[in-house]
Amino acid sequence: RIVAVIMVGGPTKGTRFRPLSLNVPKPLFPIAGQPMVHHPISACSRIPNLVQIYLIGFYEVREFALYVSSISNELRIPVRYLREDKPHGSAGGLYSFRDYIMEDSPSHIVLLNCDVCSSFPLPDMLEAHKKYGGMGTLLVNKVSAESANQFGELVADPETNELLHYTEKPETFVSDLINCGVYIFTPNIFSAIEDVLKQKKDRANLQRVSSFEALHSATKALPPDFVRLDQDILSPRAGKKELYTYQTLDFWEQIKTPGMSLRCSGLYLSQFRRTSPHLLASGDGKRTATIVGDVYIHPSAKVHPTSKIGPNVSISANARVGAGARLINCIILDDVEIMENAVVIHSIVGWKSSIGKWSRVQGEGDHNAKLGITILGEAVDVEDEVVVVNSIVLPNKTLNVSVQEEIIL
Ligand code: GDD
Repeated sequence: RIVAVIMVGGPTKGTRFRPLSLNVPKPLFPIAGQPMVHHPISACSRIPNLVQIYLIGFYEVREFALYVSSISNELRIPVRYLREDKPHGSAGGLYSFRDYIMEDSPSHIVLLNCDVCSSFPLPDMLEAHKKYGGMGTLLVNKVSAESANQFGELVADPETNELLHYTEKPETFVSDLINCGVYIFTPNIFSAIEDVLKQKKDRANLQRVSSFEALHSATKALPPDFVRLDQDILSPRAGKKELYTYQTLDFWEQIKTPGMSLRCSGLYLSQFRRTSPHLLASGDGKRTATIVGDVYIHPSAKVHPTSKIGPNVSISANARVGAGARLINCIILDDVEIMENAVVIHSIVGWKSSIGKWSRVQGEGDHNAKLGITILGEAVDVEDEVVVVNSIVLPNKTLNVSVQEEIIL
């Protein structure tokens, strides 16, 4: 039996995701027309013998209630949201719900960060993990040397795939092989976390004796029940034949910013081409728009047959796209109205926004740059014939003049 756990974090995280995280918890932001967390959930649902999926976070329960019940029904697998009263760190959060997780007596626990985009090769990874015979297996990936410092960098034995060395976001370069935030553990992970908790307690007791040391560490100290998977478990346990690696050769990205959500939307849409082509718009027939490449259109959206859409466009519920409009590389959220002959390129258009006739909303398409795409928050009105380039517009603004490279607060 296998239990999957997805760490979804909480409202204090995800500030880089503003203004889009002002309306919806980041894990529920639509990517390729589905909530971000839907992609790891549906990958978990393909693991043989999976009995339960838990989401652990510190968002309010009501924010996840609707999604969790609808996805449980759809996949016919129980999906449950467990709320932490405060952040316990990635390993501490897992530990605080150990009783729930162990209820089904799982042989393995699949643990995933919710903000990564991957093909999640979980069944193959599970097979590899069983062969290695360790406590845990990490999904790893090669990235460019310049970008490696945003991740956990690691060294693995090329023969045995054992994790030999692990450093979380080091300042000086260690390796271009990085931790993807996707793990398989045996239940022994709970003893490993318990060991860390015990060490922390012992250290805290010692510090109480030595007040000088306490004074110096007090400002930096994390709460005693806060345990990070990377620094507190992976680093000290590397090179002890307990942890192994499984390298993905397929796509993998981290989703920390709106720009990356747009890029990942494209990656998932092209995965749909292989795995679920029925989700993609086909553009067949005289009464549909011209479709270029991979495009998702929600069944309730109304798209004019003379518009041209794609590649990498996802259009959410009840959006309307007018005659002659052109959409390329963008996410159009619920209830947006795009009027006749408007153009949207390299952009995310927030819920209930409207884009006037002959207007242009566009970015330059650099997913990593701060103003590389244009983002309109909720209910932004771009009036007719206005041009918005490389800008971020906060909710409820009306733009009646053109802007470029601006953050409109
Ligand atoms: N429930 C809960 N509680 N979730 C948490 C908490 C917590 O206290 N802290 C973090 N998370 C969730 C986040 O929402 C995210 O999905 C995941 O755990 C990891 O978040 P961070 O600990 O902030 O790390 P990171 O995303 O900067 O980096 C991690 O992931 C990278 C891959 O994307 C590290 O493991 C890196 O080594 C790794 O490369």
